[in-house]
Formats: sequence, structure tokens, C-alpha cells
Amino acid sequence: MTKIGYSKRSQKKRDNFDKIASKHPTIFCKFVYISNFSLLETYHVSIMLNECIDGLVIKPDGVYVDVTFGGGGHSKAILEKLGPNGKLFAFDQDPDAWEQAEKIDDERLTLITANFKHLEKYLRLHGIQQVNGILADFGVSSHQLDAAERGFSTRFNGPLDMRMGPSAASNAADILNNYSAKDLQKIFGMYGEIKNAKTLSEVVVQERTKKPLETTEDFKQILVKLAPRNREFKYFAQAFQAIRIEVNKELEVIEEFLLQCPKVLQPEGRLCILSFHSLEDRLVKNFIKTGNIEGKEKKDLFGNVLKPMESVYRKPIIASDQELKINSRSRSAKLRIAFNK
Ligand SMILES: C[S@@+](CC[C@H](N)C(=O)[O-])C[C@H]1O[C@@H](n2cnc3c(N)ncnc32)[C@H](O)[C@@H]1O
Repeated sequence: MTKIGYSKRSQKKRDNFDKIASKHPTIFCKFVYISNFSLLETYHVSIMLNECIDGLVIKPDGVYVDVTFGGGGHSKAILEKLGPNGKLFAFDQDPDAWEQAEKIDDERLTLITANFKHLEKYLRLHGIQQVNGILADFGVSSHQLDAAERGFSTRFNGPLDMRMGPSAASNAADILNNYSAKDLQKIFGMYGEIKNAKTLSEVVVQERTKKPLETTEDFKQILVKLAPRNREFKYFAQAFQAIRIEVNKELEVIEEFLLQCPKVLQPEGRLCILSFHSLEDRLVKNFIKTGNIEGKEKKDLFGNVLKPMESVYRKPIIASDQELKINSRSRSAKLRIAFNK
């Protein structure tokens, strides 16, 4: 496996990130039920694996990109379908995912330790102008979500971090302790779809004057007072999602990525995208349907919609009942597949 990406300066940032992370030892177990009788430790269970691989229509000699390597489940399945001359480029911005990639001894795989918003730039750096397929599996991995020290978990106490990788400009604590009530309201309302976003943002601002928020427990103590009765966990998840999206600028990054896809894909090249909430899915749906993020149709003189990509299926694919039974995280997943015209 070849590994490229961060410069020396970024390496320093990565070391710093590791230092912070090592102060907060992992206190969780990652297990998944494979059958009634066996338990298997795992980093992440890949969602709609077969559906994604079928959607990519892999050519043995083709060049493919997995922009969200994570635990490498999708990447390994792509490698299995590739012949000796095929190539796979995999992006991830998380050093924990890089460790997973290092376990794969395969010359056809190149790991790019960078944000996928730089898709075109890094492929060009490798002399690749166009590829046969791109796979994206947005959001965080189970490993990131369950690791207390990363600050994504609503279950285990940890520092208010939530950065997916060392290049994020601020962490969750920076945002909760420094953003104005108005900006926090916007984030909770738009990214978390929280109904009482105004009250929540005002209480955060009030509480932080007494003591800055440092841990996920500090944040939860505020949330629990404002959560609808018996819906506390959903409320926690919505508020954490909102801050996570802001920390990692997730929607802006997806927009940048989508706009590069038609340039990077060959004609007939496939795009397979797994999204996990309506904000992500709306961007993907709009882009495939209209060629722009806003979803505004532009037509030529004959009334044909001007768009670079065509949907393979009219509706998104969702997880099968069988998958839902063994992996509850597949519940909210939507897979959209398109090809370049
Ligand atoms: C849902 S997991 C992917 C799981 C993977 N498909 C598998 O089968 O194991 C998402 C991964 O993408 C990474 N990621 C998310 N956004 C990213 C971005 N903008 N640039 C690079 N990596 C990103 C995360 O760090 C995480 O490891």
C-alpha cells in the first residue's frame, strides 16, 4: 500500500492530536453480533456492502476511489473485485483509519491521508485524470462514534472534541464556548433540526459564563434539562450531530466533493453515495437531479435539463430487513447511485 497526504507541518498537527487523544484512554468495547452465538470485535460494519459494490459495476482493470476508508470494509470488497492491474485510491482524514489501512498489504491500494474535498487535486498528483467509480460513505465510523476520547459519543463521557481529523480548525468545546447565541441557534436548528434551538443556545451561553464546557457530560447536563420527556436520547443525538457537522464543516465539504465528481469520473463512471441524514441526502439528491446543490433545474433551448449525471434508480436504496436486524446503524442509511453522462 502506498500512503500519501499530510506534509511535515501536518504531521506535527497529527502528533499533537495523538497527544491529546492519548490523555483520554479508550474505555469502550467494540463488538457486533454476527449470529446469536458469536461475537466479533470490529472497527466498523460496512453498510449496504453488496449494494455499493453492485452499484460501482467494477471493471477488473479500472481505477476506483473510496473517499471514506474508515475500517476499510468497502475498500476490501472493491479490491476483491479488481484484477492485478486495477487500482484503488482511498481517502480518510482520521489517523485511526490510517492504522486500519496499514494492515492491508496490497500494492493496488493507495491511501490518501487527507480530506476528500481535495479529491481532484490528490488524484492529479498521482497522474490520474479520471476514474471508473467513486464511493462515499459519509459521516463517522462506529469506531469514532463509540470512542469516548473522540467526544462523539452521547453514551460515554469524554472531552468535547468531535474532530474527524487533525486538520479541523476548531473542536466542539471551541464552538460551544465561543460562538454567539445566534450562531449556536442556527447550528442547533439547521444541523440538528432541534425545535427549541433558541432556548438551548441561550442556556449554553448562560451556563458557560459560570464554567466553560469541557466534557460531553457538561454538554449533556444542559441538554437533559431541555429535552422533551422520554425523548432525551434522540435530543442528545440531534444536538451532538449539529455540533459535529459544524466542527467538521461536513456539508460544505460534501458540496465541494460533489461538484468535482463529474470532472473526475469517466463517461459512464459510477458514483455511489451513502448518506445518513436528510441534510446530506438532500445535497446528493439535488446534485444528481440538477447538477447543482440548490436543486435548481437549468434547461437547454429544447427543454432538456442540463445536468452532468443521471440517476440509476429513481429512489434511494435502503438497507434490507436482514441487514437492519444485525446492524441498527443501517437504519437511517440511503444509497444513491448515478453515472456520468
Ligand atoms: C462511515 S465511515 C466509513 C466506513 C467504511 N466505508 C467502511 O466500510 O469501513 C466514514 C469515514 O470517513 C471519514 N471521513 C468523513 N468525512 C471525511 C472527509 N471529509 N475527508 C476524509 N475522510 C472523511 C471518517 O474519518 C470515517 O473514517
